[in-house]
Amino acid sequence: MNINSQKLSSARFAQATDAFVEIFTASVDFDKRMANQDIQGSLAHAKMLCKVGVLTDSERDLIIRGLTQIQSEIEHGEFEWSIQQEDVHMNIEARLTHLIGIAGKKLHTGRSRNDQVATDIRLYLRDEIAAIGDELKRLQLAILNLAEQHTDTIMPGFTHLQVAQPIVFGHHLMAWFEMLNRDADRLRDCAKRLNVSPLGAAALAGTSYPIDRHFSAELLGFSYPSANSLDSVSDRDFAIEFTATASILMMHLSRFSEELILWASAQFNFIDIPDAFCTGSSIMPQKKNPDVPELVRGKSGRVTGHLVALLMLMKSQPLAYNKDNQEDKEPLFDTVDTLLNCLRAYADMVPHLVAKKENMYRAAKQGFATATDLADYLVRKGVAFRDAHEIVGLAVRLGVETKRDLSELTLAELQTFSPLIGEEVFEVLSLEGSVAARSHIGGTAPETVRIAIRTACERLEVQLPHFHISGEELRLNLYQPQISTACQHLAE
Ligand code: ARG
Repeated sequence: MNINSQKLSSARFAQATDAFVEIFTASVDFDKRMANQDIQGSLAHAKMLCKVGVLTDSERDLIIRGLTQIQSEIEHGEFEWSIQQEDVHMNIEARLTHLIGIAGKKLHTGRSRNDQVATDIRLYLRDEIAAIGDELKRLQLAILNLAEQHTDTIMPGFTHLQVAQPIVFGHHLMAWFEMLNRDADRLRDCAKRLNVSPLGAAALAGTSYPIDRHFSAELLGFSYPSANSLDSVSDRDFAIEFTATASILMMHLSRFSEELILWASAQFNFIDIPDAFCTGSSIMPQKKNPDVPELVRGKSGRVTGHLVALLMLMKSQPLAYNKDNQEDKEPLFDTVDTLLNCLRAYADMVPHLVAKKENMYRAAKQGFATATDLADYLVRKGVAFRDAHEIVGLAVRLGVETKRDLSELTLAELQTFSPLIGEEVFEVLSLEGSVAARSHIGGTAPETVRIAIRTACERLEVQLPHFHISGEELRLNLYQPQISTACQHLAE
């Protein structure tokens, strides 16, 4: 056993801590990241203690001055963090006492590191969620801008990664927008639920001092004090919720990435990812690899790993606080960093993606993308859908055999499958006709996509510099009243 003589907190111990145990149990290396929040929490606690008469005005003022100095020392990299002081809380408190003497020793009255750390993480995560929300919005805005340029850009839509039906690129982009918008909602929801003050729960049972929990909660911008002291110090639901939200968001980014990677390949050749976001190969001079999307796709696994780690950390823990909980920070911090970095890379990259319109169009022409349109056409002529499906199947077979798209078959050939087919069928079989026909809410018609973009701008409270939608265009869409109801609902 390697004994270290500088024991931290207690007269209770006859023996000093083993030197390795000291290192093993310390968290300061990572929890010093919450120094600012720890100071904010302490300031609020000191002000509250003074308000209820536990500290004098001059003690409070000394504490405020001391903590302010410590904050500046930390900001300027002058603060000496020490492993012997175990964590961020003890480091700051020890320094405070060193600076202001006996008043520093009074700061911990009516509180424990258990409610202190629970407060710090909530404050920390609240700040980070706001930063993540900003980056997410930047990415959403980039997607809207790109979508606006491509409301008429026809491409194949896929199911089973097989050409299914034509869509416009803007519609595909808006699908990504919707995914991210749900993530933004989830983040806001998570921020709402975490915004509760554990301060005053102390170690687990509350404290015998006449504390005013509403006051400290209010000072810290929390909505209200938590309802149960045991739950307050042991609850890490908010960290799990955040990491779950982050995992879903990263899963979305991984899907986004996967499509960009496929589309940038020579085989698809739908988009160009600018050089600034790609790297070369050390051996193959011709290579331009989509590193950013690949790395983001890879990092999604890591964030889901953190979610599972946090769930396992909390599983079966008895009430109230256990040292296990110290293990919540690294997965949480890494989730925050990973998410911020991935969103930043994407928000920077998306505005520079270049759509190769001709290639997209050509690809949509292959694969009988308008077969459903022909079936729908026959239905409008009175054929039952299942029969129409059969008829079109036969027409597609002829197309496959003769290597032609449906629109390239002659009218006479088409009429051999159904005499109901007339000249106007070619309008239906065109890619433009196919997308234009889907003008209901949520459909891929260019005019509908433009309305979807406008609605999205309203939801985000942003404006696109060149985007204009005419009153006439709005009136064209029968479903507009429902869109605005959906909007109102979102705004609430
Ligand atoms: N470093 C600890 C943590 O992160 C702070 C709380 C310690 N409380 C205790 N009773 N040991 O959870």
